[in-house]
Amino acid sequence: MTSIAKAPGKIILFGEHFVVHGNRAILGAIDKYATVTTEKINTENILISSSLGQASIQKDQDVDKVEKKFRPFFYIAKQVILKNNFDKGISIKIESDIPIGAGLGSSSACCVAAAASILNLFDKSDKKEILELSIQAEKTIFTNSSGADCTVSVHGGIIEYQKEKGFSKIDIENELNFLIIDSEQVHATDKVVEQVKKFKDENSNVFSELCSEEERLITKALDSMKNNDLETIGKCMAQNQMYLEQIGVSNDTLLSITKEIEKITFGAKITGAGDGGCIIALTEKDNDLSEYVNTTKYQTHQVSIQKTGMQVFNT
Ligand code: PMV
Repeated sequence: MTSIAKAPGKIILFGEHFVVHGNRAILGAIDKYATVTTEKINTENILISSSLGQASIQKDQDVDKVEKKFRPFFYIAKQVILKNNFDKGISIKIESDIPIGAGLGSSSACCVAAAASILNLFDKSDKKEILELSIQAEKTIFTNSSGADCTVSVHGGIIEYQKEKGFSKIDIENELNFLIIDSEQVHATDKVVEQVKKFKDENSNVFSELCSEEERLITKALDSMKNNDLETIGKCMAQNQMYLEQIGVSNDTLLSITKEIEKITFGAKITGAGDGGCIIALTEKDNDLSEYVNTTKYQTHQVSIQKTGMQVFNT
C-alpha cells in the first residue's frame, strides 16, 4: 500500500513571537502544500528523499545523530515503527510547493503530512495523534516551537492559538486573500526567537506592554474578520507590523517591501519569524496587482485561506 498525505502551509495573520511567550496568535492555512508519500519496505532502513537530498538510515539509529534536515521524518518513522512492532523499514518521499525558510510553515506542513502518511500505513489515526506526533517531530530541530504552525496545518481554516489553551477555529464567511512577497532572505526561526527572548529579558516592561497591546489588537482584528471589514483588518496588520519592528525582527528590506505594498492593499506585515522570510498583504480577490507583481524583483504568491487542513489517501 502507498499512503499519501497532503498538508497546507500557513501564514500568521497576527501574534507571531508573542505567541511563544503565552499570547494568542491568529493563523490561516494557505493553498500551498507539502505532500508526503510513504510505503513499507523490506529492508530495516528508513529511506528519505526530498528536494534537500536523500538518506538511507538504519532504523535503530539515535534520532540526535541524524542530519537535521532528515531528523523530523526519521523521528516520526521510528516512533510509528516502535509503536507497531514493525520489523522492517519505511520509505518517505517529501514534495512541497511551500518556499523553505520563508515563514510559510514549510517544515510544519512536511511534519504534519509525514505523520499523517506514516501513521496511515498501519492503522486509522485521528487528528489529535497526527498533531502530537508532528509537533514532537518539529521539536527535534526547533525545541521552542509553539505548535501553532502544525495545528493550523492539521485543522485548516483560520485558528486562534494559545500555547496553554490550545486552539479554536474562527468561522468567517468570506474568503480572505493575500499577496505574499518573499524577501528571499532565508531566516532561521530558532535564531530569531532567541533574539526576541533576549529583547524580552533586557526590556521586560516594554515587552509586557507590547504583549497587552497585541492582545487588544487581536480582539479588534477578530471582530473585523467576523464582519468582513477588510479595511480594519488591514489597519490591524499594519499596527502589528509596528510591534514586530519594536521587538527587532524586521529589517530594511522587509520595511521597504511593506511600505511599497501597503500603498495598493489594505495593510501588510511580516508573517512568521521575520528577519527575512515573507511579507503578507491583505487584498481583495479581484484586486489587480499585476503591475506590482510584474515589476517587483521579489517572488510573489497570491493565496487564499483554505478551509480544509491535512488530508490522507491510499493508493
Ligand atoms: O517563521 P516560521 O514559519 O517558523 O514561524 C515562526 C512563528 C514564531 O511565532 C516566531 C515561532 C512559533 O513557534 O510560533
